[in-house]
Amino acid sequence: MKTIDDLQVAGKRVFVRADLNVPLDGRTITDDGRIRAALPTITRLAEAGARVIVASHLGRPKGAPDPAFSLAPVAERLGELLGEPVAFAADTVGDAAKGVVAGLADGQVALLENLRFNAGETAKDDAERGAFADQLAALADAYVGDGFGAVHRRHASVYDLPARLPHAAGGLIATEVGVLKKLTEDVKRPYAVVLGGAKVSDKLAVIDNLLEKADRILIGGGMAYTFLKAQGHEIGTSLLQEDQIPVVAAYLDRAKERGVEFVLPVDVLVTAEFPDLKTKAPADAETVAADAIPGDRMGLDIGPRTRELYAAKLADAGTVFWNGPMGVFEHPDFAGGTRAVAQGLLDSPAFTVVGGGDSAAAVRILGFDETAFGHISTGGGASLEYLEGKTLPGLAALED
Ligand code: 3PG
Repeated sequence: MKTIDDLQVAGKRVFVRADLNVPLDGRTITDDGRIRAALPTITRLAEAGARVIVASHLGRPKGAPDPAFSLAPVAERLGELLGEPVAFAADTVGDAAKGVVAGLADGQVALLENLRFNAGETAKDDAERGAFADQLAALADAYVGDGFGAVHRRHASVYDLPARLPHAAGGLIATEVGVLKKLTEDVKRPYAVVLGGAKVSDKLAVIDNLLEKADRILIGGGMAYTFLKAQGHEIGTSLLQEDQIPVVAAYLDRAKERGVEFVLPVDVLVTAEFPDLKTKAPADAETVAADAIPGDRMGLDIGPRTRELYAAKLADAGTVFWNGPMGVFEHPDFAGGTRAVAQGLLDSPAFTVVGGGDSAAAVRILGFDETAFGHISTGGGASLEYLEGKTLPGLAALED
């Protein structure tokens, strides 16, 4: 993979595909981690005299402009963090983008509007994607792929555009891939993996792959209840993906055969109703054994005995990969499990990797010092798909 050093950037228009898909509450950015992670490459290019055109997606708009998904608040935050104004183009390849790019002086930075406001960005049809990539290519002289969080998407700006311009990988992608290589090629054992999040269906492929690689797999979050159900336990009104029960049951069997320790919650925090995440009003939660969830209660976090158990399973690990919160951490009554796992990673001597998305946001929102972790990935889906052993389109596109 070429790096920025291999590109001529001084005086050139350099298109940087970043992943600035940050969580928003209205127009307020609740976690700017991905913007901060994009800074080193942008700064480096600007300092080298490039005219930097940053582009990203935000959320999942439906291929047309939608103010709820505008990158305008991100442009403002990017400008604050860079300490320089960032020109914001109110479209992606139209007159606004052309005008903003034409107005850039060497060393200046612009941000285009959400790439997904154009249907060509995510089109399944190669020609439609290619046509959008042609329009994007006309804006720039070179391409830097640095949106690690989106490299698993075969999208125009990620996959088709690099083929149309001299291209290189940015520093963030280089760092992320270096860390993930350590987890796949050079792992220090015992290798413990903590998986959480709501849906077990999102994690099946990675569990399948990790059953061949990991020594321990600890499960939390909403996905844990499908495993508990597969073990024959009553799970009340907890999240369940009924159609996945046979699949997860087979994983439990395979783990036993392969000698992989598969650890499920032994106790959980339950409540009668899903809590209000806006008011964060107390939720009247109680702790019950994981095999004794009352029929009218839902589990929303791992309990205190599970937290201790999971911390112990991390304490002597050589490597830990963690993806997905252990509970509804956005509510203070159900943040304890996620907090305990984050602390367990910090207390462990292992090389620790927090895999993107919600778990990375949780680490920051719960106030942990992110520099204390081995690595916090900016890619949730991307890091999982890498660990699944898949070829990621956005990395493949940067290879040649
Ligand atoms: C992410 O948040 O994982 C990336 O930004 C990719 O977003 P997507 O899942 O909407 O493609």
